[in-house]
Amino acid sequence: MSSQGLENVYDDSNLITQEVLKRYEDTADPRLRQIMLSFIRHMHSFVRDVKLTPDEWLAAMNLLEETGKWCSPGRNEFIIFSDALGISMLTITQDYPRPAHATEPTLIGPFMLENAPLFELGTDISAGAQGTPMFSQGRVLDVAGKPLAHAVIDVWHSDDRGLYDVQEDLATKGPWARAKLRADAEGRYSFWSVLPVDYPVPQDGTAIHMLRATTGRNWRPAHLHFRIQAPGQRTLVTHIFDRHSKHLDADAVFGVRPSLIGDFKRHESGQAPDGRAMSQPFYSLDYDFVMVPA
Ligand SMILES: [Fe+2]
Repeated sequence: MSSQGLENVYDDSNLITQEVLKRYEDTADPRLRQIMLSFIRHMHSFVRDVKLTPDEWLAAMNLLEETGKWCSPGRNEFIIFSDALGISMLTITQDYPRPAHATEPTLIGPFMLENAPLFELGTDISAGAQGTPMFSQGRVLDVAGKPLAHAVIDVWHSDDRGLYDVQEDLATKGPWARAKLRADAEGRYSFWSVLPVDYPVPQDGTAIHMLRATTGRNWRPAHLHFRIQAPGQRTLVTHIFDRHSKHLDADAVFGVRPSLIGDFKRHESGQAPDGRAMSQPFYSLDYDFVMVPA
C-alpha cells in the first residue's frame, strides 16, 4: 500500500472499519467469524456514536486491568459487569427453550466454585457460617415429572452478613455455605444451612464503581444459588429468591423471575421437617426443580 493509501485509511474512520472487517473475514471458524465481524461493527459504531476520546478509552483499559486483579477462584469480577449490564440474563433468556412448567434458569453470578465439598443429604452445609438455621428440601424431576435419581446439586449462598466464603480468606477458612449434594434414588435432596440475606454487589471491587456512578442500584435480593446436573438433562443454573426480600423488584443484576421466588417459612421453634427438634427459630424451604432435556 502506498503512503497515500495509508493516510486515507487512518484519516477516515469508515475506512478503518472496512479495513478491520476485511481482515477478520479470513477467520476460518464460521461461528467465530460471525461473532467477530458483528462485534467489530457494533464496537466501531459505539465508538463513533459517543465520539469516544483516547483518554476515555485508556480509562476503560485501566478499568479492565484493575478488574482482573479482583478475580480469583470463586470470584469473577468481570461477571458482575456482565450481570449488571443485563448481558448475562440476555444470553440465558435467548438460549434456553423452556416448557412452561420447567424451572427457569438465571445467572450463575461471580461466586461459583468448582469442586465444592461433598455433603451427605440432610446434613448441615453451613460449616460455621453465621445465621438463622434453614432447612431446605425438594425433588429434582424431568419435564414428565419423573424423578432424576442421583442428580448432582451444587448449592452456595451468603451468610447473615451478606458475604460469601470466597469473599473471605478461602485458603485459611475453607468453603462454607457451599456444598455438592447427590439426590437420592427418588430425586430427593435436603440440607441444613443458614438463611441467606439481601446483600450488595461486592463493595471492594470495580463493578461497584460503575453502579455508584450510574444506577445507584447495587442490592441483590436474598437467594440460594443452585447448579443441577443430571444425565440427559440440560444443566440448570438458577437461584431461589426469598419472597420476603424488599429488593425483589430491583435486583442489581436483573436475575429475578417470578417462578423462582420461594417461600422461606419462619418457624419459632419445634419439630423441623426432618424431625429434628429445634429450640430456636428456623426457616424451611421446599422447592422442586424441573429440568429440560439436553
Ligand atoms: Fe448470590
